[in-house]
Amino acid sequence: GEDLVVLGIETSCDDTAAAVVRGNGEILSQVVSSQADLLARYGGVAPKMAEEAHSQVIDQVVQQALEKAKLTEMDLSLGVHKARKIAGKFNIPIVGVHHMEAHALVARLMEEELRFPFLALLISGGHNLLILAHDLGQYVQLGTTIDDAIGEAYDKTARWLGLDMRRGGGPALEELAQEGDADSVKFSVPMKQHKDCNFSYAGLKTQVRLAIESRNVNTEIPISSANCIDRSARADIAASFQRVAVLHLEERCERAIEWALNLEPSVKVLVVSGGVASNKYVRTRLDELVKKKGLQLVCPPPSLCTDNGVMVAWTGIEHFRLGRFDPPPPPDEPEDTV
Ligand code: KG4
Ligand code: ZN
Repeated sequence: GEDLVVLGIETSCDDTAAAVVRGNGEILSQVVSSQADLLARYGGVAPKMAEEAHSQVIDQVVQQALEKAKLTEMDLSLGVHKARKIAGKFNIPIVGVHHMEAHALVARLMEEELRFPFLALLISGGHNLLILAHDLGQYVQLGTTIDDAIGEAYDKTARWLGLDMRRGGGPALEELAQEGDADSVKFSVPMKQHKDCNFSYAGLKTQVRLAIESRNVNTEIPISSANCIDRSARADIAASFQRVAVLHLEERCERAIEWALNLEPSVKVLVVSGGVASNKYVRTRLDELVKKKGLQLVCPPPSLCTDNGVMVAWTGIEHFRLGRFDPPPPPDEPEDTV
């Protein structure tokens, strides 16, 4: 019912996040602890390292989320990165949530009127998906990446351009691109000859690397330093990369809309979510396309596009309502079976 209160825990990539959400969609608390700083130093997500970083902050993150939601009566001295242990201790049901499903469904938290079926473009560091969501749990994949995801291309490009990775490569690149001329470097749009809805970003990554090398851009000097000699050359590469990376999204989405309308003529919405959906240029370009095709774009606010606990809690709520959950685990479940 509407007095449902759900704790969502998200640790699948480089952020440790938790949130408490009510059945009616009210967000009671939201806490995110980023490992971007750590990753900037080591150049990517090393699973072992990420796991250790999660375990260092998870107690704190969950405790904060519960406190902000005024759920202080729960004492969380135990290893709370194991949601099963919490569920066992407090004798509450548990829902396992698929990360990408959560990215898509959080759109239904903010947009109460968003009904199935809808089309979803999910763009993150590891995934690039076009999904036709018929109903809760009924998803048809229209397209995926055959190599890298767009977020990976943003991150590598940012790194090669010597940008400050501490806030994440995507946001840094988006900012620099605003200063550049998007027509200055001629990158080709991937997979033009493939008339499907799949994606490819590995080739574009290579094009960018070659462009940087051939221009002798000195990426040893950090972009932030004053009077940086090739700031404008780097901005041109950033802008040109972004234009083509997003053109690829536009082309695939345009085709996916046609496919989706053939399968489900009642589709009215394209949801765009995942970390890269927090990019303003991405949002603007896709909004234009979607309007041109007579549909509506639904894009969660940036804090709900990047990894967060709210989307996990909300997806838990959606499944719980339809009776799709596991019973509380035994309270004293041994550590190694979790
Ligand atoms: O969904 P997400 O937070 O984590 C994964 O599940 O991967 O997505 C992270 C990705 C990273 O590649 C990050 O650089 C990218 O989203 N990203 C952006 C922006 N903000 C985050 N890419 C482009 N522009 C942004 N503003
Ligand atoms: Zn994600």
